[in-house]
Amino acid sequence: MDFPFNVSLYFISLFFFIITGGLGQLGVGLTKLLREQFGKNNVILSDIRKPPNHVYHNGPFIFSDILDFKNLEEIVVNNNISWLVHYSAVLSAVGESNVTLAKEVNITGLHNILDIATKHALRVFVPSTIGAFGPSSPRDPAPELCVQRPRTIYGVAKVHAELMGEYYHHRYGLDFRCLRYPGIISADSQPGGGTTDYAVQIFHAAVKSGCFECYLRRDTRLPMMYIDDCLRATLEILEAPAETLPSRTYNISAMSFTPHDLTQEIQKVLPDFQVTYNVDPVRQAIADSWPMALEDSAARRDWGWKHEYDLSELVQAMLTHVTTGNQLVQAN
Ligand SMILES: NC(=O)c1ccc[n+]([C@@H]2O[C@H](COP(=O)([O-])OP(=O)(O)OC[C@H]3O[C@@H](n4cnc5c(N)ncnc54)[C@H](O)[C@@H]3O)[C@@H](O)[C@H]2O)c1
Ligand SMILES: *[C@@H]1O[C@H](CO)[C@@H](O)[C@H](O)[C@H]1NC(C)=O
Ligand SMILES: *[C@@H]1O[C@H](CO)[C@@H](O)[C@H](O)[C@H]1NC(C)=O
Ligand SMILES: *[C@@H]1O[C@H](CO)[C@@H](O)[C@H](O)[C@H]1NC(C)=O
Ligand SMILES: *[C@@H]1O[C@H](CO)[C@@H](O)[C@H](O)[C@H]1NC(C)=O
Repeated sequence: MDFPFNVSLYFISLFFFIITGGLGQLGVGLTKLLREQFGKNNVILSDIRKPPNHVYHNGPFIFSDILDFKNLEEIVVNNNISWLVHYSAVLSAVGESNVTLAKEVNITGLHNILDIATKHALRVFVPSTIGAFGPSSPRDPAPELCVQRPRTIYGVAKVHAELMGEYYHHRYGLDFRCLRYPGIISADSQPGGGTTDYAVQIFHAAVKSGCFECYLRRDTRLPMMYIDDCLRATLEILEAPAETLPSRTYNISAMSFTPHDLTQEIQKVLPDFQVTYNVDPVRQAIADSWPMALEDSAARRDWGWKHEYDLSELVQAMLTHVTTGNQLVQAN
């Protein structure tokens, strides 16, 4: 008589996931979390680049370009996909130099995702951002809905995604879920050209050289979040029963700080650390148009969102990871 010795072979999950654009700052970490929860082979990571070896060997990886409708549809059907996490995006720096490409990926790509999801009854998660607000939005939190007139193409594309997803939800019953992420801080990937990137770069500088030149003014307050909180929030909203989500787009927040606050917190550990300021007018203007804090009481009320990392926990975690990472590089 045969027994199912290999338990993982019999892992029962109702959900099969695909993560698009999964090799960026957030995708690899989310994939790890989803695989722990839903089984390794039920979560497919995809991107248009070759993965590093450790990612390739950690579970299913395939090529998928979100601009190739038929190919993406084929992947969804062949793998009985039930959940699509849409992380594909063009890096800011690249997006500015090739707006045509950025518009294709951010806007046409989203349309492809929504159409495939509706056609094959997938659930969809799309991240938005604090960049979806603009100078006419209240800079200090005001409750519930507010004016969103962003002035960057990035923000405009994100508001478009929020509205399209909500439209498909009401019109076709698509299970669309969206979180507005603050600036996300993580140790193992270097961000590329965004407005909140200083808050990652500063840790590498503090550990390597003991000094840092900041491109935002010292008093620029922005909402930020440690990556572990961001990924857990994402897992939690994916798992939330549909009836607990009266809204389909939620703010999530953890902390807000200025470059000066962050510097002082790092100096508690590294007292000799020095920061100078050389303001980049382009990124400063973008930061000045964003909210200083995100009002997230709806997420806390509807699906129990609760952050774990405040500024001091963030600084401890980042300094630990960045220092260990450096030692590993030096040992190699
Ligand atoms: N990281 C943050 O601080 C932050 C904050 C707010 C919102 N977000 C949003 O979260 C999502 C993921 O962020 P991230 O920082 O991991 O992004 P990222 O820019 O680091 O990675 C995006 C990935 O998309 C891939 N990609 C580009 N074109 C593609 C295409 N045609 N088809 C498939 N994949 C393609 C890229 O190769 C890249 O690996 C993005 O939508 C971003 O706007 C991120
Ligand atoms: C396909 O996925 C659905 C859930 O979306 C599940 O109920 C079904 O059992 C899956 N089929 C196979 C063959 O895995
Ligand atoms: C596309 O999205 C990326 C990040 O998600 C952003 O940096 C870029 O500016 C956006 N470009 C457009 C045209 O929306
Ligand atoms: C910009 O993107 C478009 C669309 O993908 C592409 O055809 C064009 O060659 C790109 N231009 C540059 C300068 O890379
Ligand atoms: C999201 O945050 C902004 C900025 O704090 C706030 O004005 C808006 O009302 C919030 N939206 C929701 C739905 O909570």
